Amino acid sequence: MRKLCGLALAALSVSGLAGFGQATGPLEYVKAGKLFDSQSGTYKQNVVLVVEGERIKSVEGAGFAIPAGAKVVDLSQDYVLPGLIDCHTHMGARADKYDPINEFKETPFSTAYASVVNAKRTLDAGFTSIRDVGSAPFMAVDLRNAINEGLLPGPRMVASGPGISITGGHGDLNNYSPEVRVTLYPDKRGFGIADGPEQVRQTVREQVKYGVDVIKILASGGVLSKGDQPGAPQFTYEELKMAADTAHAAGRKIAAHAHGAQSIKDSIRAGIDSIEHASLVDDEGIKLAKEHGTYFVMDIYDDDYILGNAKNFGMQQEMIDKERGVGKLQRENFRKAFQAGVKMAFGTDAGVYPHGDNAKQFHYMVAYGMTPAQAIQAATVSAADLIGRSADVGMLTAGHYADLIAVKDDPLVRVEVLEHVGVVMKGGVVVKDELTGR
Ligand code: ARG
Repeated sequence: MRKLCGLALAALSVSGLAGFGQATGPLEYVKAGKLFDSQSGTYKQNVVLVVEGERIKSVEGAGFAIPAGAKVVDLSQDYVLPGLIDCHTHMGARADKYDPINEFKETPFSTAYASVVNAKRTLDAGFTSIRDVGSAPFMAVDLRNAINEGLLPGPRMVASGPGISITGGHGDLNNYSPEVRVTLYPDKRGFGIADGPEQVRQTVREQVKYGVDVIKILASGGVLSKGDQPGAPQFTYEELKMAADTAHAAGRKIAAHAHGAQSIKDSIRAGIDSIEHASLVDDEGIKLAKEHGTYFVMDIYDDDYILGNAKNFGMQQEMIDKERGVGKLQRENFRKAFQAGVKMAFGTDAGVYPHGDNAKQFHYMVAYGMTPAQAIQAATVSAADLIGRSADVGMLTAGHYADLIAVKDDPLVRVEVLEHVGVVMKGGVVVKDELTGR
């Protein structure tokens, strides 16, 4: 019996990969009036996507004859783009729960219930793939598996465990009396608090053991934590290097939360794959990122939500003050880093603001220096590259998943049209359609 249970679990973890696996089925045909080619950043006119099962079999030109009686999704009047990808989400997080007492009320179940709703909202918003970079311990792993098994609607997920934090760091619970033991997940291994290279190595290995696709480490202080400063380093270079080497040895990528200039540079030198936030990057950090090919994932919409709405949901003054210290600089540095040629992938920190509003960030990416096409590339071809899924998502060419969205107005003219997508298809299945019934 024990052995059987072990086998069942092993089968589950294999099926965890199924979201990026194979399947076949009857052919269907998607007529696309304008198809966004995410590699060139331009449209192809009047194409037909031949979809077999979950994947695109071929991309045909205007003269292609669709067999009579075949299943057709007619988007011939619309703009069709690859499904969008958000590289920085927290599926279990809620943007209406900033009261600090909430820290003591959440359970694995409450965050999991929230994540079911959030996954659906994310998918309906046109985000057919996401990377979760920190939820309740290993919740994202289970959510990923449940979506892949077809239990729940949601995007394809690349899942991390809890963000790895130093004691007293961005991922810890701070400023309570030392007379009471308040720490996240006391005595649970792999759950996130680590000090020194050896503990970091062990934590990364534990997380891999529990099924994560990617490691998240909290290199610097943060905004939405108590008792620390976004600009201040937390993990040392040695600890970051150990984390990156251990993750890579296990075939996993690693993302570092880093607002501060020193932590950004330490993380890049340590070989970390993406810098999350990158708010206070300096010229040397920009140069290093270019040299190492490190992605920046800059959540430049959040400032509006935090300063505009979060107060009503109990956010504390300390955090609002910290946000005032990074928000504007982060946007200016987004412009600077992008113009200098740093690779950029779309990531929003969904959960800080309500899930489903992910596309609101496109407006800011364009306001701070990108063309609409470049902003969409950041959320498709570049994001797919960062999450290691280029063969599966981010493009609509033969072999890729039939993950696509459609809008009736041109997002290259007004990128904000992506805030309300009309059609969402994931793996050849239409999951939302407000367009073709017109
Ligand atoms: N999770 C991040 C932190 O707490 C959110 C930062 C949001 N602010 C911003 N300007 N991007 O540090």
